[in-house]
Amino acid sequence: MKSVSSNRELKQRVGMNAADFVQDGMKVGIGTGSTVAFFIEELGRRVKSGLNILGVPTSYAARMLCLEHGIPVQDSMLSDRLDLAVDGADEIDPYLNAIKGGGAAHSCEKIIASMADEFILIADETKLVSSLCRKFPLPVEIIPPALSFAKKQIRLLGGTAELRGAIRKDGPVITENGNFILDILFSDPPENLERLDAELKKIPGLLETGLFLGIAKKALIGFQDKVELLLPKG
Ligand code: 5RP
Repeated sequence: MKSVSSNRELKQRVGMNAADFVQDGMKVGIGTGSTVAFFIEELGRRVKSGLNILGVPTSYAARMLCLEHGIPVQDSMLSDRLDLAVDGADEIDPYLNAIKGGGAAHSCEKIIASMADEFILIADETKLVSSLCRKFPLPVEIIPPALSFAKKQIRLLGGTAELRGAIRKDGPVITENGNFILDILFSDPPENLERLDAELKKIPGLLETGLFLGIAKKALIGFQDKVELLLPKG
């Protein structure tokens, strides 16, 4: 059957609906990516109609979009608590564990998600998976001197790490923190993600993984025929 809606339309519907979670006076963490872009657009419309909020963006891209749409922003350096944070995802499992970092912003995204009283994932249905790390490569941010040693240590954990290359620039992607991204594929993906996360973080020079485990308590998902609010299984 031909799909009725493109991914873009699903993302748009979800992004716009997510704005309903934002209430007057809130300090809101604002994620990165094409789904969040629709959320920002809708928030901007509401700000123009009188909604009073302060956005705390997770990346330059999110910051620029917020400013373009008239949303007042504060740097995360000056924040230690948020009412709400909303962000996209690359994979979401039934427990609402997620992989993030498709936009290389996951370190800041995790800081902002963790300081929020409530963290909501927004995505189209293609991001739903039964288990993480089987399809989308797991991104980790490393400081450049750690490159070869981190790759070797990741091999010992059963993964193959590839340095993320830049588009329209020779060489690697450089994150907003001046670092590299390794994308990890597992031929036999680990069942215990908490252990994987802990083992990865033991690697010297590895700053943050794209595993968001137990942080989201809600996910707003765009399906072909509806937008549904999912809660973690169990
Ligand atoms: C950026 C992210 C994004 O939220 C994730 O890649 C999803 O992006 P999109 O909404 O464009 O599919 O983690 O680091």
